[in-house]
Amino acid sequence: MKQFNIALIPGDGIGSEVVAEGVKVLKAIEKADSNIAFSFTEFPWGCEYYLKYGKMMDEDGIDQLKNYDAIYLGAVGYPGVPDHISLRDLLIKIRKEFDQYVNLRPVTLLNPTLTPLKSKAERDIDFLVIRENSEGEYAGAGDWLYKGKPEEVVLQTGVFSRKGTERIIRYAYEEARKLKKTLTSVSKGNALNYSMVFWDEVFEEIGKEYPDVKTYSYLVDAASLYFVAEPERFEIVVTSNLFGDILTDIGAAITGGMGLATGANINPEKEFPSMFEPVHGSAPDIAGEGKANPIAAIWSVSQMLDFFGEEAWGKAILSTIRELLMDTKALTPDMGGKGSTKDVGDIFIELLFA
Ligand code: NAD
Ligand code: IPM
Ligand code: MN
Repeated sequence: MKQFNIALIPGDGIGSEVVAEGVKVLKAIEKADSNIAFSFTEFPWGCEYYLKYGKMMDEDGIDQLKNYDAIYLGAVGYPGVPDHISLRDLLIKIRKEFDQYVNLRPVTLLNPTLTPLKSKAERDIDFLVIRENSEGEYAGAGDWLYKGKPEEVVLQTGVFSRKGTERIIRYAYEEARKLKKTLTSVSKGNALNYSMVFWDEVFEEIGKEYPDVKTYSYLVDAASLYFVAEPERFEIVVTSNLFGDILTDIGAAITGGMGLATGANINPEKEFPSMFEPVHGSAPDIAGEGKANPIAAIWSVSQMLDFFGEEAWGKAILSTIRELLMDTKALTPDMGGKGSTKDVGDIFIELLFA
């Protein structure tokens, strides 16, 4: 019997609505598979917690989380708490403190009807974005000088360490080698004359150790064009933290929307827990209405099970999502359906065991 202890951080807005469906899926798997058991511990951290206690998580929150096998997070951020506080003190803090330096974000078209791109089929949109997740533009370094004065200057410094840059690029090369895929680096060395010139150099240097991997290097503006106009160019993409954030929302747009995009925040050395979450936010515009799409959160469960080495379940979840997407009428309104979040979770479980 394998026991996996999962820390739940449902968070804000639709976060808790979609996490509930993912947990339902895990519980159904536990019931069906006598070799797996899950325990769930919920942490009430988020914006409501902040408004009550003046903090996004407990002071020793990182310590409380450190022995779990995984963290399953819904979304963080809500009107009423400044976004830079809520996100930096909870989501970004966990990614950083647990050195979850790899963010795996698949851009996979699961059904041809879901893309707004004319004449693109499933084989054209099927790639993985490997986003640097621990430093870069998100390092939080900077300064705010002469506040309110005419000479006011604000600095936001991207931090690209050799260690941080090499490890993400090496991870991407390893994946490309293992999966026999091409590797595309996305950067911006023509304008960002320190960080991205360094990134490009490291990409080339490490590439010498991987002569078997075919590589491409695009500027981020051109890459954004190709994501939409020629997504078939990509198999594995490696990019910096901010570029990866933006590009994966484009990835969501070309594969069916925010309700379908998932991301795994991985600490490959397994020194600390990894974290699984949908790419979307708390969606205050639809929160509390029971109509959030839970599929991205369910896909996160698939990534979690893959990470646990339970790939058979990971695959079963993904193929069930494909099946579910064949009839969009039963899905949530963002997919053109009339179903509720809970309905979609129920139908999913029925299909998983059908
Ligand atoms: P958002 O992803 O919350 O919403 C963008 C749009 O997509 C909205 O129209 C929303 O209704 C729709 N949408 C998102 N997820 C959906 C789902 N599962 N089903 C149906 N529709 C869905 O992005 P935003 O509005 O820019 O941000 C809202 C808050 O969430 C902000 O505080 C932001 O900082 C935060 N945020 C958090 C995370 C995270 O915790 N990982 C990610 C992104 C944004
Ligand atoms: C994401 C989100 C976060 C990010 C925000 C909420 C800080 O947009 O996970 O894509 O930028 O990483
Ligand atoms: Mn984002």
